Amino acid sequence: MGSQSHPHPHLNGDSNTHIPKKPKLSSLSSSLITEAEIQNEFNHHDPTVARINNGSFGCCPLSIIQSQQELQLEFLRQPDHFYFSELKPGILKSRILIQRLINAHHLDEISIVDNATTAAAIVLQNIAWSFAEGKFNHGDVAIMLHYAYGAVKKSIEAYVTRAGGHVIEVHLPFPVNSKDEIVFEFRKALEKGKENGKKVRLAVIDHITSMPSVVIPVKELVRICREEGVDQVFVDAAHGIGCTDVDMQDIGADFYTSNLHKWLFCPPSIAFLYCRKSPGCIDLHHPVVSHEYGNGLAVESAWIGTRDYSAQLVVPKVFDFVNRFEDGIEGIKKRNHDNVVEMGQMLAKAWETNLGCPPEMCASMIMVGLPACLGISSDLDTLKLRTHLREKFGVEVPIYYRAPKDGEFDVVTGYARISYQVYNKVEDYHKFRDAINQLVGDGFTCALLYN
Ligand SMILES: Cc1ncc(COP(=O)(O)O)c(C=O)c1O
Repeated sequence: MGSQSHPHPHLNGDSNTHIPKKPKLSSLSSSLITEAEIQNEFNHHDPTVARINNGSFGCCPLSIIQSQQELQLEFLRQPDHFYFSELKPGILKSRILIQRLINAHHLDEISIVDNATTAAAIVLQNIAWSFAEGKFNHGDVAIMLHYAYGAVKKSIEAYVTRAGGHVIEVHLPFPVNSKDEIVFEFRKALEKGKENGKKVRLAVIDHITSMPSVVIPVKELVRICREEGVDQVFVDAAHGIGCTDVDMQDIGADFYTSNLHKWLFCPPSIAFLYCRKSPGCIDLHHPVVSHEYGNGLAVESAWIGTRDYSAQLVVPKVFDFVNRFEDGIEGIKKRNHDNVVEMGQMLAKAWETNLGCPPEMCASMIMVGLPACLGISSDLDTLKLRTHLREKFGVEVPIYYRAPKDGEFDVVTGYARISYQVYNKVEDYHKFRDAINQLVGDGFTCALLYN
């Protein structure tokens, strides 16, 4: 780890020269974390709850919480010193680590922001300006997945539709059987977008959709966008880092964001926004304007007014934590994936249902069909059932409503999104299995939740 954390002399410089393309993130094999230590690190989790929903809010180990609190205290002890001497070099260190992890060419391609929602606002705000400044014409097109995250869809409404953009959704099948189905639908939407000579200015593509959760073949979709002349491609990978492969050279998007507080053990709130450096690349700005306005997005984002920056500064400690696992983050990803697939298959078998996608189309989350006899027939049903599972059974898991298509009868209409993270145990999934089995055995249906 030592060689990965040298502060860089230039806050906004190009650190390409001395950084290996793919950092070796695991070198401390002699002090691998033990199972007991893992459980201790997550001792603060409510022991009465089977927490199989890492996807929503992630998790943060106790040792990282402690390091974060030390940083917070350091600031409060002598804020002026912290501000003038610690803050900028600290954020720079974190950016260098992120740059290496995601194989970005230039350090100034990496900005640290609060979360994926903020990153989306940064990218989309610029689209609104392009309409306002006459670079884009009324009716120019933006493409997004039908399963784009709700908050990001709202952002597209606020910044793109309101500015005069025409938004086209890519309808995706679910359950999904192969990535070809996604590619097919994406091409169809793109063709529609280009009808009558219209210009497609932006494609927003999720790397891992939230609900239902599926890994999208982003690399292929980005390539198609390039071939078809789409101006800008923004990948929303809120779940990306620590969950699936995230390599900027390989994926090739213009903009890519991932939270670090979901699958990389950081405390909330931290995400990176990658902006590809290229001739004529776009000048983005943070929506919260402060002293650094105009000094480049990375510098702007490193000071957006007085606030708690500790989540951004604790990144090196998080890398140390990750490196205590066999094969570092790659090992964690692989084991989480293997385990979530195994748990998903176990549940689908127990309930005689199906998975929402083949194992190769999921990362550390997978959709598992719930028994049709539960009578899930609306989004509200899924919310009520989720609450029921939390309150009566101590199981925390989000549920997706999949409306039956015309002619479909007695099909699975509810899918649970299960996550697997290092703190999970088989018993968590057994608890979920048994809760559903009990509901089925009792003749429960969602209609009963309205009495
Ligand atoms: C695909 C996707 N985009 C964006 C977000 C928003 O993330 P945050 O709330 O951390 O901004 C999420 C959160 O789950 C998500 O799944």
